[in-house]
Amino acid sequence: MRFTFYGHACFSVVINGKKLLFDPFITGNELASSIDIATIEADYIFLSHGHSDHVADAEAIAKATGATIVAAYEVATWFATKGVEKYHPMNTGGQWSFDFGKVKCVNAIHSSTLPDGTGGGNPMGFVISSTEGNFYYSGDTALTLDMQLIPSFASIGFAILPIGGNFTMDAADAIRAAKMAGAIKVIGVHYDTFGYIKIDKQATIDLFQKEGLYLYLPSIGETIII
Ligand code: NI
Ligand code: MN
Repeated sequence: MRFTFYGHACFSVVINGKKLLFDPFITGNELASSIDIATIEADYIFLSHGHSDHVADAEAIAKATGATIVAAYEVATWFATKGVEKYHPMNTGGQWSFDFGKVKCVNAIHSSTLPDGTGGGNPMGFVISSTEGNFYYSGDTALTLDMQLIPSFASIGFAILPIGGNFTMDAADAIRAAKMAGAIKVIGVHYDTFGYIKIDKQATIDLFQKEGLYLYLPSIGETIII
């Protein structure tokens, strides 16, 4: 699968010709100043929760591309009030078959207030299954034993996990999460953007390697095949 990193916890994955964009936060991210959101294509925009470092550019990209926002009911309908026409509300535990594959919403232990203070419902992770492969994006979350359920939903080719700590799992917890989810390959996100979440990249890669896991840290704007 083609994976492109746009900084912080924003990335896109192309599956069966459809472009899935996750957690767009680009224009407010100094580290992602090389990315012009007008160049981003999307058929779907997945939002793990309502925090601005995950949804800041969702309205603009949804309106520019006509993409469908997929998120918790409270987040999806909040975007509808902003004039986003296509949205698909879901909630934790729910599953839906889209034209690219299947999406199951899984538990994330976090909070989910929208930028104007509106409640965003439950934060969520997503397990995406398709004829081209399966992956797990945990969203912002603590390590939780619920991750043990993921291999019973899908055999995961790779997982996208936060590794920056303070607000989410750090690398040590992400290693435990990857093992529970059954993922050998991990793409690390949610690090270095703010002071609280700065990491030593090489030391983190080494930590994963010691546990028999591969940690990928693509540069902002970089596309990898995984
Ligand atoms: Ni958050
Ligand atoms: Mn966040």
